[in-house]
Amino acid sequence: MQVRLLYVSRAVGPQTTTVTGSILETARQHNQSNGITGVLCQGQGLFLQVLEGERSPVNRLYARILADPRHQDVELLHFEEISQRRFGNWSMAHVDLSSTDPMIQLQHPEFDPYSATGALMLAQLDDLLASGQPIRTPLA
Ligand SMILES: Cc1cc2nc3c(=O)[nH]c(=O)nc-3n(C[C@H](O)[C@H](O)[C@H](O)COP(=O)(O)O)c2cc1C
Repeated sequence: MQVRLLYVSRAVGPQTTTVTGSILETARQHNQSNGITGVLCQGQGLFLQVLEGERSPVNRLYARILADPRHQDVELLHFEEISQRRFGNWSMAHVDLSSTDPMIQLQHPEFDPYSATGALMLAQLDDLLASGQPIRTPLA
């Protein structure tokens, strides 16, 4: 049985390329060997991540991620059983939310993961990956 999980969190400390690079490297290695796919959005002090895969590995990974000191305020936005993956092409895709592209801001002025429904966030992520462009979060 496959599931999809979506959460948001706040970074502890600056989101440098070294921190992100190290998370992504671990993620890509571990996820590939555990059949997990998804997307990690990062920037503006936030992480927004989708994990997809068999229920047990996804739960085990989420428990590890919850305990990771590199972020806090981890909030579960969405959890569902799925028959098909949406992000099956990536062991962990990466979207940079810190882009300052004004077009993206205009397209997604309402982007605010802590207030939005999980369904809306997933729709915006679909949109993002389809357009191949990053979106910007409101400044804290
Ligand atoms: C925002 C964020 C996203 C992460 N995503 C993943 C991931 O998709 N896969 C993964 O294996 N580790 C991910 N990690 C790292 C895990 O929290 C953990 O450090 C890693 O799995 C190694 O765990 P271990 O030290 O218990 O072996 C993420 C960490 C953070 C802060």
